[in-house]
Amino acid sequence: MKLLVTGGAGFIGSAVVRLAIARGHRVVNLDALTYAACLDNVASVAGDPNYAFVQADIRDRAALDRVLAEHQPDAVMHLAAESHVDRSIDAPGTFIETNVLGTFHLLEAARAYWQARGRPQGFRFHHISTDEVFGSLGPTGQFSENTPYDPRSPYSASKASSDHLVRAWGETYGLPVVLTNCSNNYGPYHFPEKLVPVVILNALAGRPIPIYGAGLNVRDWLYVEDHADALLLVLEKGVLGESYNIGGENERSNLDLVRTICTLLDAKRPRQTGSYADLITFVTDRPGHDARYAIDPSRIRDELGWRPSVTVEEGLERTVEWYLRHESWWRALQDRDGVGRRLGTA
Ligand SMILES: NC(=O)c1ccc[n+]([C@@H]2O[C@H](COP(=O)([O-])OP(=O)(O)OC[C@H]3O[C@@H](n4cnc5c(N)ncnc54)[C@H](O)[C@@H]3O)[C@@H](O)[C@H]2O)c1
Repeated sequence: MKLLVTGGAGFIGSAVVRLAIARGHRVVNLDALTYAACLDNVASVAGDPNYAFVQADIRDRAALDRVLAEHQPDAVMHLAAESHVDRSIDAPGTFIETNVLGTFHLLEAARAYWQARGRPQGFRFHHISTDEVFGSLGPTGQFSENTPYDPRSPYSASKASSDHLVRAWGETYGLPVVLTNCSNNYGPYHFPEKLVPVVILNALAGRPIPIYGAGLNVRDWLYVEDHADALLLVLEKGVLGESYNIGGENERSNLDLVRTICTLLDAKRPRQTGSYADLITFVTDRPGHDARYAIDPSRIRDELGWRPSVTVEEGLERTVEWYLRHESWWRALQDRDGVGRRLGTA
């Protein structure tokens, strides 16, 4: 297949690009190269004859039309987005423009392209979204595909809006869409403003490791390469018009997760005295911080036979090792705007 991947210079998009190329697909990576992008994430495939990169913005309809006409993809995998909840609290406008309006322009460009080619039923518009659209859980229960939407941050509200648009384009215009909503990802190439890399990099620098509130917020942690694998499976085998929840089957509180990372670092790069966990510092909570997310993975497991391949302990060990071996990658990103500063305190 020839895939148009949006946001392929970001964290998850680049994992999709690398895996798709490894599996013999042709890939056009469309990315605006915002602060969150890094072309080094796809350096390993940059010379591959099956790979092309286009710098373009999903808010630019004319550019989208040009890229679709020139590259003639069989499917669109839409990952481009503003993705950091804390930034959405400080500057929600960008999230509305990219996640809502950008998705609208991409849907319209894809619809025009698909109609002009005689509405091939094999075409796919795969929208990649988040479990955050479902809101916040108490101590029990899980999000299923039928859980009502209840987004509570500007980020999750913008993603929920984009999900609604994609479903509407499927119902109204017959555009062959499929959606996925996944839990928190972690792994190699994670931009150094998100929790897991912040913990690793602050620990290595001997700086305080900030934990929001009491650290009791629970997430279901999904290794990014497992996510990419699930996304390609849904693209190929997912039922048209359906959505699939993707989880890691690895619920952990933030505090547990941070302690696990500290223990891994203690073993792999011991401090001169004490443990990295001594650096843990509790800071003011994020406004509106969702308490718990948990994924009911039964649809993707029962219908498509997919389960995550690693536990959070295995995935974190790989991740910590990756950051220890790729210092030049993360050092280059630490000067980017906002990185290393507390954001989203409203
Ligand atoms: N990271 C997670 O844990 C997680 C969980 C669930 C869902 N998601 C979703 O997965 C997708 C990818 O997330 P990520 O963590 O890789 O994000 P990311 O911030 O690492 O990457 C986003 C990419 O999109 C590009 N982009 C941003 N605005 C653009 C625009 N207007 N036009 C074109 N490109 C643009 C950026 O340059 C960047 O390369 C997002 O849609 C996000 O909502 C992420």
